[in-house]
This record gives sequence, structure tokens and C-alpha cells, in this order.
Amino acid sequence: MKLKILLVDDDPQVLQGLVRMMRSRRQEWEIATAAGGPEALAILSRQPFDVVVSDMRMPGMDGAQLLGEVKKRYPEIVRIVLSGQSDKEMVLKSVMPAHQYLTKPCNDEILKSSIERSCGLRDLLADHSLKQLVSRIDSLPSLPALYVEILKELESQYASIHRIGEVISQDIGMTAKILQLVNSAFFGYCRHISSPAQAVELLGLETIKALVLSVKIFSQMDRSSMTVLAMDRIWAHSLATGVFARTIATAEKCERAVADDAFMSGMLHDVGKLILAVNLPKLYKEALAGPRSSEDSVLEAERQTFGVTHAEVGAYLLSLWGLPFPIVEAVAFHHAPGRCPQKKMGPLAAVHAGNCLEYAINGQEDDQCQMDAAYIDELEVLHTIPAWQALCRQAIKDGDGHDN
Ligand SMILES: [Fe+2]
Ligand SMILES: [Fe+2]
Repeated sequence: MKLKILLVDDDPQVLQGLVRMMRSRRQEWEIATAAGGPEALAILSRQPFDVVVSDMRMPGMDGAQLLGEVKKRYPEIVRIVLSGQSDKEMVLKSVMPAHQYLTKPCNDEILKSSIERSCGLRDLLADHSLKQLVSRIDSLPSLPALYVEILKELESQYASIHRIGEVISQDIGMTAKILQLVNSAFFGYCRHISSPAQAVELLGLETIKALVLSVKIFSQMDRSSMTVLAMDRIWAHSLATGVFARTIATAEKCERAVADDAFMSGMLHDVGKLILAVNLPKLYKEALAGPRSSEDSVLEAERQTFGVTHAEVGAYLLSLWGLPFPIVEAVAFHHAPGRCPQKKMGPLAAVHAGNCLEYAINGQEDDQCQMDAAYIDELEVLHTIPAWQALCRQAIKDGDGHDN
């Protein structure tokens, strides 16, 4: 099945250029074009598409309006903005309806890989109704107290990059959204930004403030349904898993960037649980209500109820957002690393081990998860697990994880 992509731009030359750029993928991709929002909606009403790539500034209906409409009518379609550098403000305002942001003129490899990355993990989702549900979500739920803290910090005359980065990294949803933006080609940074403090440094406080506000507004939605999960525990578990994953990656002499990815993957690895809890609170509650003795039985309950687990759901959303692939992969396979074709010490192995060690160190007796010894053995690091465990215990004692 070919991937169906709709390109929208009021400038016919830009459209032609994009079509030419994508010609090399004509075996796998089917391209259609529209000269504006109304034409795009008319085309979408006639046949299904997988991806819409839209310009921002167009007469009549602009890109934000178009993508907002696409989001409402066809939530399963991946939405990408391709716009001029001068439209930065407009793009920030439209933070809600788009999954990814790219700048014009766009290098063809960046555009192609963005489309591929966005769609790459969709095969993991067997359940169509869940796929629809996940793509309707623009932001992740977060602990509200943290938003208040961030705003207070921003308003303080003592606000510093370090302090704001510290506050933001305690909030999973905010961290993901900010990293999505700072890593998008829109901001034009060549190197990969993997920590909120770095993001604050590069984006500037004002931009961060705009992001914080928009994400905050979004997070207010459906807060009541979060009662399904013990949020404080998930938060503590995620942060500790992030710290452990980075500790393990560092112990195994991974590069700094890999260790940072491990930290980020650890912080986001269970984000699928939040998505399920917010969007299907009743079903999720029922799924979790049955007898269960471990994290592994939670997975089984999820699979029975939804056909997929929180791992795939979380990874799916992060891939739509265009987060770096190693992070998406680590989240997708954090309970089943053996299913990942790549057998190498990296974020996935670190998060898989970090997750299990977190349960072993901080969890109750009935709250455990099994490490895949065969997989760890394949990486030839099975003998180092006791050392990891000691380092992880040490990391909590030292209160590491906030000084990234
Ligand atoms: Fe998990
Ligand atoms: Fe977990």
C-alpha cells in the first residue's frame, strides 16, 4: 500500500518543487496537490490520505485553519507544517493543529525523513480506533502543580535558564512538546537538543513562555479522568527510570548524546498510560481493575482491552511529534526489547533495564517487571546488572537527574 500524501500551497512553483523533490519515492508514495485550504478539504473528502503537508500563509483559509479542520475531520492523518522562517510567530500560535514543523526552503532529505519518521511506527498499531484516538491528541497530560511552578519561575526576576530547565524537566508533557519544537527544522539547529535547559537556552525565555501557556491550556482538558492512575507514582517512576537509564548508558560508556536520549526515553517511556487514562478512562479503569501481580500483567490486560499496550501507544504519539527515532524506539520496545532489530547498547537497553530496576528498587512486591535476560545477554552485559543496580541506588541517593 502506497503512502498517500497531500501537499498544500498557494504558490504553484513551490508545489511543483515539492512534487519534483518527492519523485524519487514514487514507488512508495502517492502525491496529490491542492492550491489552498478549501481545495485540500474537497480532495480529502473524496479519498483517504495518510499525510498532509501544508503551507502556513495562504489567502482565505490559512494553514492553521486548514490543519485544525483536518484534525477535526480526519484525526488519523499526520499533519505537517512547511512554512517560511518569517512565519515563526504564526507557527507557534498554531502549536495545536500540527504534528511537525519544517521551514521553507526545505532540504528534501529532511522532508522525506520527517514524513517517514512520522509514519514509521504506525504499523505497530493494530487497532484502528485507537490509532484515530491517539492522533487526536496534541499534548500530554501533566501534573498541574508544575505548570504553576513554571509560570512563577518565569515571572520571577531571578529566572535563569538553569532554573527554568530544571522546572520543565520535571514535567513530562511540557518537556516533550518543547523538545518537539526545538528539534524541528523550524528552529534550524543542526545538533540534537535533548534537554529542556538546552531548549530554553536556544529558544529564549519569551518563546518558552508562549509554549508554556499554550501547553498549559491544553493540559487543563480532561484532568478529571486522570484519577484512573496513581499519577504521583507514574511521575516518580518515570523520572527515576530516566535517571537510571542515563546512569546505565553512562556506565556502559555511551556517548553523551546517547545518555541524554536514554534519559529522555526514560522520562517518556510510560506516556502511553497517560494517553489511555485520559482518553479511555472507563475502559482503562476496567482493564486495570482485574487481578494483577506485576507490570507484565498490566501489559496483558492492556493488550486484551485495546489490542496494544501503553508502549506502542506512547511511541506512536512521540513518532507523530517527530521526536528523535532512538527515543521513539526505546519507548516502543521498552517491555519487549528483543523485538527490536537493533541489538546494541543504547537508549532502548538502558530504558528497559532502568524500568525494571526502578520497580525492583522502589516498587512494591506485587509491582515488578521482568528483565529480558536473553536480550541483555546478547549485548554481552548480563554480568554488569548488579553494578547497574548499585549505581542506580546511588543515583537516587545523590538526587541526580535534575542537573542535566
Ligand atoms: Fe511501561
Ligand atoms: Fe515503566
